[in-house]
Amino acid sequence: MPRKTLASASLLLISSLVAQVSAHGYVEHVTLGDTKHTGYLPYVDPYMSPTPQRIIRKVPWNGPVQNVSLIDIQCNGYTAGGIPTEPAPLVGTIAAGQEAKLKWTSWPDNHKGPVITYMARVPDDQDIRKWSPGRDDAVWFKIHEVGKTADNKWGAVELLTEAKGVSTVKIPSTLKAGQYLIRHEILALHFAFAYPGVQIYPSCIQVKVTGGGDDFPSSEYLVSFPGAYKHDTPGIVYDLYSETGGYSIPGPAVWTPGA
Ligand SMILES: *[C@@H]1O[C@H](CO)[C@@H](O)[C@H](O)[C@H]1NC(C)=O
Repeated sequence: MPRKTLASASLLLISSLVAQVSAHGYVEHVTLGDTKHTGYLPYVDPYMSPTPQRIIRKVPWNGPVQNVSLIDIQCNGYTAGGIPTEPAPLVGTIAAGQEAKLKWTSWPDNHKGPVITYMARVPDDQDIRKWSPGRDDAVWFKIHEVGKTADNKWGAVELLTEAKGVSTVKIPSTLKAGQYLIRHEILALHFAFAYPGVQIYPSCIQVKVTGGGDDFPSSEYLVSFPGAYKHDTPGIVYDLYSETGGYSIPGPAVWTPGA
């Protein structure tokens, strides 16, 4: 290893330790069926040469998006110019009916909230390595959500911790084959008592879904990002400290094939 690389590697180690201390988090790897893919690592990948090739779209850091009106809410792209997220160079493969296991970095105990997963189908004449939905495109449908259980356990952090940081999501078994973005997110509610306050941690994974069937959600299940969440949506605004009842997870109903 050339000396310069070594020096920047130890600097990198220090900065990633610092980042851990003030950490929020991101998806560090994803297993599609039996195949494990390393995620986009915001504190490592930008310093590597050559740049590692990933199936997860770049995230700028381990922090959240806090403005539900920005296109950044799609995939946590840092897009000050309002440009959709930068696509990743690779595409994973998963068969309809298989599970995707999304492994988060260690998650802070006070960042409680739901864990939600959406998918968006890439138009047949487009390549996922070049395509992103527009701001107003209602293309996202929800396939999975975990909010608060009756015994007060949250998707994040209690259930995620019990599952060793892994969120498991099944791709609907009769979903029409094709290229899809999987948009997986945690909403951290510790400041969500007023808007802005909710912290949104989305991550987008590029996959090709094989097998499947003919099912695809009807328009009532399809939402845009931004758009699905508003500044006054219940569940986007929520007082974690005084609410003793249930939690209503924002976004559309979960789509199940046949619906
Ligand atoms: C969110 O972004 C929109 C669009 O840029 C801007 O108009 C609005 O003021 C921002 N809201 C907050 C709370 O920062």
